[in-house]
Amino acid sequence: MTTTSAAPRVVTDAEPIRLWENGFATDPHRYYAALRAQGPVGWGELAPGVPAYVVTERIAALDLMRDTDTFSHDPRPWESTVSEECPLLGMMRWRPNSLFSDGTDHLRYRTTLLDAFDLVEPHDLRERVHRAVHVLVGRFGPRGEADLVADFARPLVSMLFNSLFGLPDSQSGRLTQALVKVIEGGDQAAEGEAEFGGYILELIATKTEERGDDLTSRLLDHPAGLSAEEVTWQVFLTVAAGHEPSANLVSNALSRILGNPEYYTTLTSGARPVMDAVVEVLHHETPLANFGIHFARRQTEFHGTEIRPAVPIVISYGALGTFAERAATGPLHPKDASHLSWSAGPHACPVRREALLIATEAIERLTQWLPDLEPVLARDRLAWRPGPFHRSLMALPVRFTPRTPDLPAEDRT
Ligand code: HEM
Repeated sequence: MTTTSAAPRVVTDAEPIRLWENGFATDPHRYYAALRAQGPVGWGELAPGVPAYVVTERIAALDLMRDTDTFSHDPRPWESTVSEECPLLGMMRWRPNSLFSDGTDHLRYRTTLLDAFDLVEPHDLRERVHRAVHVLVGRFGPRGEADLVADFARPLVSMLFNSLFGLPDSQSGRLTQALVKVIEGGDQAAEGEAEFGGYILELIATKTEERGDDLTSRLLDHPAGLSAEEVTWQVFLTVAAGHEPSANLVSNALSRILGNPEYYTTLTSGARPVMDAVVEVLHHETPLANFGIHFARRQTEFHGTEIRPAVPIVISYGALGTFAERAATGPLHPKDASHLSWSAGPHACPVRREALLIATEAIERLTQWLPDLEPVLARDRLAWRPGPFHRSLMALPVRFTPRTPDLPAEDRT
């Protein structure tokens, strides 16, 4: 925690910067500049009438993530201040899982996830990605046109999660639809949360009956002895936390590759690695743009700002990434030039290695199958989905020479 001798700023008097409105989706950096103008901690709104502190400065973000004595991940004090209809509850409601816990509870949950994912070998994950890309190209390849968000990035991640958690591909459409509703935090959020909950409950019931070589079975059998309910919430979290950002990492990187002649002309010759585009995304339009939600355990002063308890404090990974990159050309040390898109401290993304592998392999494989992908729209004409948390394209339409890979009959639908 950082304190100063001057009286702390009271940002709550300022007009909140509305991260839920359409303008934020169109031009987030204008909103980030407005937040930054308020100091390291700005005052925003995550939904109409639901305010939050927003951290846009790197040192402040790191202090927040590491000061577990002052800040907690438990949203329950905040929950009691909002109505049951609050569209953010799908994303922010307390559940007994890693994301919403602190201390020993957190360590117990996080260890089960790390141990389960540790058994996913990179070569196995790579093969799963290749298979999913093959199936998807088999579906849309013959058309010669596709939307790489709806036809590729989202179903790809649903297929991967289904297979990793032990469900068949036939369930992947259901998963995608439910999650889109939850993360948008709009009118359909409660419906999406219920659909997603139903999906997870069925998964747990299936695996309780018959174990397999999958993440769900590993969580059920982990020596930490999680109850079936606790396993349900770890799976709920992992799918919810991983699906949308991973799909967005793929589609945002693809949009940079297709919109940039330098990548586009060199992609197939391998001169510019796909990883470059992925790293650009982590700086410029990181998939989880604002998250890392903390709550002060008591009224406190933080980087010169008065912080009230029971009000969310959000880390703007989106604002931090671009700023860090600009700073890299200035007087800052290069270590300060890195983005924080995987977060840091005890809750940092435990699956970043896997997420990077999925994104790069998926894009490389897709462009091997369809080497002449051509964007239908210029990049500055692409539309972004509104919502305070994500940076997510509505669609990424492309054209290409039709291609029909051979597929087994069961994969053709
Ligand atoms: C295979 C895909 C992924 C899975 C399964 C996954 C899973 C998780 C889980 C379980 C947590 C909670 C950890 C804890 O509370 O201790 C987490 C945190 C986090 N993940 Fe991932 N993730 C994935 C991909 C991504 C991607 C693509 C991004 C963005 C680039 C991302 C960014 C983050 C961030 C920033 C956090 C910190 C949480 C916070 O902000 O509060 N993750 N992830």
